[in-house]
Amino acid sequence: MKTPSMLQDVRVSRRRFVQSAAVGAGLALSRPAWAQDAAPEGAAEVPAEKVDELRIAIIGPGSQGRNLVTNCLKIPGIRFAAVCDIWPYHQKYCANLLKKYDQEVTVYSDYQEMLAKEKDLDAAIVATPDWMHAEQSIACMKAGLHVYCEKEMSNTIESARQMVQTARETKKLLQIGHQRRSNPRYWHAIKLIEKDKVLGRITHFYGQWNRGKRYEIGWPDGQDLVEADLKKYGYDTMERFRNWRWCRKFSGGALADLGSHQIDVFNWILKTPPKSVLAAGGADYYKNSEWYDHVMAIYEYDVAGSTVRGVYQVLNTTSFGNFYEVFMGDEGSIEMSEDTRRGQMLREPEAKRREWEDMSEKIESMGRDAIELKIGETLAPDGTKDAEGQRLLEESKKPVHQLHLENFFSAIRNGTPLSCPPEVGFETCVSVLMANDAVASGARLNFKPEMFKA
Ligand SMILES: NC(=O)c1ccc[n+]([C@@H]2O[C@H](COP(=O)([O-])OP(=O)(O)OC[C@H]3O[C@@H](n4cnc5c(N)ncnc54)[C@H](O)[C@@H]3O)[C@@H](O)[C@H]2O)c1
Repeated sequence: MKTPSMLQDVRVSRRRFVQSAAVGAGLALSRPAWAQDAAPEGAAEVPAEKVDELRIAIIGPGSQGRNLVTNCLKIPGIRFAAVCDIWPYHQKYCANLLKKYDQEVTVYSDYQEMLAKEKDLDAAIVATPDWMHAEQSIACMKAGLHVYCEKEMSNTIESARQMVQTARETKKLLQIGHQRRSNPRYWHAIKLIEKDKVLGRITHFYGQWNRGKRYEIGWPDGQDLVEADLKKYGYDTMERFRNWRWCRKFSGGALADLGSHQIDVFNWILKTPPKSVLAAGGADYYKNSEWYDHVMAIYEYDVAGSTVRGVYQVLNTTSFGNFYEVFMGDEGSIEMSEDTRRGQMLREPEAKRREWEDMSEKIESMGRDAIELKIGETLAPDGTKDAEGQRLLEESKKPVHQLHLENFFSAIRNGTPLSCPPEVGFETCVSVLMANDAVASGARLNFKPEMFKA
């Protein structure tokens, strides 16, 4: 089935070919062959030795923006032409970093000025605080750029909806930064669930992101934004500018910041958005925090006519157990995580054994035998290593953000389906932000199908 974004304009306006021996890796699809949609009609295979050079801009090279920049530098044929940040300290930091890699950029404070002057850009990465995502992504798409926008898609449902609509109207690609969707470890787990059916019927799920005590984020002496610029760009103080995650104006709080990745996984694995949410939370520990420092939510999904119920929790006072997601069924359970040290499968003692289970190495987990989630262990019927498993294993050696960016650039160059198109990001955004409303109202909130339509 074609997703709307597959039908978008994926042509690169200018042909800038760059020789690259490593491009094969750079263009790798992020989905295993068995899970891929058909390639869109007319999508050209890019020759292994040649790749279109893409000229891109980064808007908001803060902590995550620089992570994305660094990952882009590992991808053949990506050239930064512009850096935009309202904070001169981050402008200089990023421009200097890029200079070390021979990428001279023009620096801007204002994204509108950048779009007015840079007429030769193919794409932009938006990694500003969440409240700016919609405004900047929409402006970029209207200016003819494809956009990789960090999660949470937006801090309001209405502006996230406008992002989807703009992507559709402009026929530009919009990748949302839920990078688990390009992570081979998750694709491996999906194979076990969907193809090998190791869970049986999924009945419950659980996810958590427990993070230790938070400390105020500061800034170097003498690097304050001048007062007039802070105000011009909508921030009242340096403290709030740096700690935007905890301010209602700029962010959807911890659920959006951390939880959105994992609630996205619930929607992904269960193949549907939730039908209801009930949640409790509070700003109990950090008295000056506008957003809840912890939230505990119960989501219900309708999966093939049956209710699947699960709990999600985010804490900011203790790191016990860190972050992971678990799906539980009547034949087994799978724990998955972006943390490569985690990932296991437990089978119910009565479940019918798969032929490979006895051969699999066991680890002890909570007093039971478990099988570690290891990519690349799958054998073909003739006993050799399964080729798709080996490909995923190779992919899994790359950082997850690099894989998600590669998927985005591959979508621009040759029409690969996006791992996280705007419609998917929007469903997640609605699922997440409604849980904040559920905390505020103290009531169970029911989702209506039209809420997920953009
Ligand atoms: N996908 C992930 O794993 C992941 C991880 C961390 C953060 N994020 C997301 O990345 C985004 C940035 O988070 P961060 O931790 O890097 O925050 P940050 O505060 O470190 O960086 C934000 C940057 O945006 C700049 N900025 C603010 N307003 C701007 C504007 N109007 N125009 C241009 N620049 C502006 C700031 O000066 C700063 O450099 C957020 O949306 C966050 O949710 C994603």
